[in-house]
Amino acid sequence: MPARILIVENERETAVLLRDVLTEFGYLVTGVASSGAAAMVRAQNETPDLALLDVSIPGEMDGARTAHALREKCNVPVIFVNANADPQALHLAEISEPLGYLTKPFKRAQLQANIEIALYKHREDLKCRERMESLLAALRALGAGVVSVNREETVTLLNPAAEVWTGWGSSEAQGRPLHEVFPLVAERNGERIYARVAQVLAAGASEELGDGILLLGSNGAKRPIEGSIAPIRDHRSEISGAVIVFRDRRKGSGRLRPDLERPSGFSMVAASPAMQHVMEFARRVAESETSTILLQGESGTGKDVMARFMHHIGSRRDRPFVPLSCAAIPETLLESEMFGYEKGAFTDAVAQKPGILEIASGGTVFLDEIGDMPVSLQAKMLRVLEERTFRRLGGVRDIHVDLRVMAASNRKLASAVEQGRFRLDLYYRLNVIQVVLPPLRERRDDIVPLAKHFVGHYNHRFQRSLLGLTTGAALALREHDWPGNVRELRNAIERAVLLEESDWVQASNLWLASAHSLPELRTRPDEPRPSYTLEETERRMLIEALDKTSWNQTRAALMLGISRDTLRYKIRKFNLPRPASIADTAPGDIQ
Ligand SMILES: Nc1ncnc2c1ncn2[C@@H]1O[C@H](COP(=O)(O)OP(=O)(O)O)[C@@H](O)[C@H]1O
Ligand SMILES: [Mg+2]
Repeated sequence: MPARILIVENERETAVLLRDVLTEFGYLVTGVASSGAAAMVRAQNETPDLALLDVSIPGEMDGARTAHALREKCNVPVIFVNANADPQALHLAEISEPLGYLTKPFKRAQLQANIEIALYKHREDLKCRERMESLLAALRALGAGVVSVNREETVTLLNPAAEVWTGWGSSEAQGRPLHEVFPLVAERNGERIYARVAQVLAAGASEELGDGILLLGSNGAKRPIEGSIAPIRDHRSEISGAVIVFRDRRKGSGRLRPDLERPSGFSMVAASPAMQHVMEFARRVAESETSTILLQGESGTGKDVMARFMHHIGSRRDRPFVPLSCAAIPETLLESEMFGYEKGAFTDAVAQKPGILEIASGGTVFLDEIGDMPVSLQAKMLRVLEERTFRRLGGVRDIHVDLRVMAASNRKLASAVEQGRFRLDLYYRLNVIQVVLPPLRERRDDIVPLAKHFVGHYNHRFQRSLLGLTTGAALALREHDWPGNVRELRNAIERAVLLEESDWVQASNLWLASAHSLPELRTRPDEPRPSYTLEETERRMLIEALDKTSWNQTRAALMLGISRDTLRYKIRKFNLPRPASIADTAPGDIQ
């Protein structure tokens, strides 16, 4: 579709000339107005994309006023056309911020370049504004306070709760440094505290605000708060800023309650600091009224479990949680599954059927692998997110739903946006709050607790009674890189529990391919010897002796021909963990 252009010019000759040139260039001239007032009427009726405006038009509305009104009232950007670049006209141009400026006589190519640049800038502005609007809409409903900042740590947005608590209006706060709008002090001694935003921006992992913190309102009021800081990534997966979600410490539950960590049906393991931060952040988001949440993480990192966890601790926990994988279902079926259909909508539709969105109303719908959603459905989904409204296939009635939408994707979503397979507007609509699950290799402290948890689970399932993991097994697990994340770990433990003949899971039954995974010393003479260092060989011998004797240090020392003191010293030196017994973990009931 050609761009639509309005000409505002009182000299007839120039207007006609302009019209001819523009038409020749392939633009559509919607009309010619000879005064500011006439331009406004035309702009309202004809909705042009751009106006070419003579600065010196006569009438009550001069060029600057007309430009301003066109932009503010009709959202039409302006290029100024001027007979001569006198200082007064230049000044006018400066204050009314046109998107382009041409001084007569100008070349045709110059005119075209100005128009193209202005159209581009305007489109970018619109996109930016849309993003902001949708962000605001989603944040307005939040009970928790939300402050977001860009990479320079200047404020980009406050939601209403944050406005009340900081005493700043969102628009006056925008562009100011975070520590000015959101000043924190220690409860203990009143000392200034700086939120660890720089660390979050640098490392891309969430952090807690910290304990014993007071938020200093602009009126001097101090409010005890708790909260989390999480990174925000743009559609290229680069960190573009951070969001702080916080609330009044005096209201509500404080830390995760143990009973809430294990909602019925499954349990989640979070032992590493990184994962505990993610869980805290997720809990705050879940408890707030945020209606759209994007879960990001590599495959197998636990997006499914996290979605269920968040549903179970939110206020919708007694309502349905309905998962739907956008990748597993063919396009046409996906559409009817989601939106339902009316009788006769297609040949097989002998009766009407409500879709998942309707069934989940009041609860949560979990759209897994959203990056694989067909483009044709994305527009419909956008409407659901924006208006909470849709129609069944073949239906004429709008159906309203009250939904929390959680969507999950791995990093492929970014490339889907890049390749045009995923709508940018839908991405921004989903991307209000991200919960990012770190890959397992970046939270190695979770590996052994997860492994113990799975041993308990498979004991139960296969009626075994393994006691846990040997030191060798625990070390081998910790050293592995887990490209398949928790899912891979779970499979490795399942196999090991099935294969294990002793009371403890041994490293050899984990089948880990990594080079230094197993303390395997007995190589056949014809096999090339692995080239271990003396230290590594010593470490492996210690592990093997300790595992063989179930950590009976007297027997292990005897076996190695060293004193018990030397053995103890070496255990400390190599930092060898005791076997990981599952005795302290309840058999988890995970799906
Ligand atoms: N923190 C966790 N605690 C317990 N089990 C987990 C945890 N994270 C993942 N799992 C298990 O690992 C497997 C993969 O998790 P899933 O949520 O399906 O990953 P994703 O959806 O990210 O691919 C599942 O069997 C899940 O139960
Ligand atoms: Mg999944």
